[in-house]
Amino acid sequence: MAKQIKTIGVLTSGGDAPGMNAAVRSVVRKSLNNGMKVMGIRRGYKGLLAGDIFEMDSHDVSDTIQQGGTILGTARCSAFHTQEGQKQGADMCKKFGIDGIVVIGGDGSYRGAQALSKMGINTIGVPGTIDLDIACTDYTIGFDTAVNTAMQAIDKVRDTSSSHERCSIIEVMGRNAGYIALWCGVANGAEDILLPEKYEFNEQEIINNIIRNRKKGKTHHIIINAEGIGHSTSMARRIEAATGMETRATILGYMQRGGSPTCKDRYYASIMGAMAADLLAEGKSNRVVGYQHGEFVDFDIDEALEMQKSIPEYEYNVAKILSL
Ligand code: ADP
Ligand code: F6P
Repeated sequence: MAKQIKTIGVLTSGGDAPGMNAAVRSVVRKSLNNGMKVMGIRRGYKGLLAGDIFEMDSHDVSDTIQQGGTILGTARCSAFHTQEGQKQGADMCKKFGIDGIVVIGGDGSYRGAQALSKMGINTIGVPGTIDLDIACTDYTIGFDTAVNTAMQAIDKVRDTSSSHERCSIIEVMGRNAGYIALWCGVANGAEDILLPEKYEFNEQEIINNIIRNRKKGKTHHIIINAEGIGHSTSMARRIEAATGMETRATILGYMQRGGSPTCKDRYYASIMGAMAADLLAEGKSNRVVGYQHGEFVDFDIDEALEMQKSIPEYEYNVAKILSL
């Protein structure tokens, strides 16, 4: 028989992502509506280990849906990688009467959730990361806001690049994944899009491309470079030396993680948070919520973590053709 959950905890973990607050708000309000007590855990697994835990009511999440960041705070917690840390986390849940937890974060956070569930705490993961690098879902909370923020910033860099007839290398986040770079590359009409999954370290090809475009009369050359490749500043120096075209590197950095979430991030996060609350109410554990083929779905965490994700070949080829 499924374990009956009376008190649930909610935490945000890993890099913050716009829309996390909408997810927290939804977990809190849906769980209260399901007749449960809700405990907020501050600063992810770090706060769990420290017992930084407080009871939440509906009012605690008022006026938060439009805010970027996470009202609960977040952290990376190395102690949670160890069995001892995980056991301490499970004990802390028991101390506060928490029998189920919603973990909002990326796949690293899911591994922590998986460990907690093995120790008897019902856990549900909700995908919160700007990187879109979780295999079991086509959507992660924060990606939409991040790509819109980056796209607007890149438009601005393009204005000054055109005015000065410069080449600009703009580095976007994404850890080892190239989804932000791919989307911005297409949406910003970049001349070159460098993705860690595809890059063959052939700088000569980029140089040839710049020279060809100059001959065609293009006044700027925008290169979107993914963080997973990095080295934008040294790349800019080499490209300038080889092409004679003034080249600048812009690393967009943490601005991509901030700001008020888009409607899509608020909406999807709200539905996913509610689903997580309902899965716990049904006594489910070791599951993650996702969005696939136009539907909100859930998977076993073990299976979800085994899944692989790659840059869609067709979309990558279109991106290359459009940048010619
Ligand atoms: P994200 O959740 O965005 O992928 P991280 O990979 O940094 O971000 O993971 C966030 C936190 O999740 C880590 O700081 C750690 O506390 C926990 N975590 C990550 N990997 C594991 C693991 N293998 N086992 C247990 N906990 C983990
Ligand atoms: O996972 C989100 C992300 O912003 C990645 O794109 C980036 O690689 C990483 O977090 C940066 O992490 P930190 O905040 O620890 O510097």
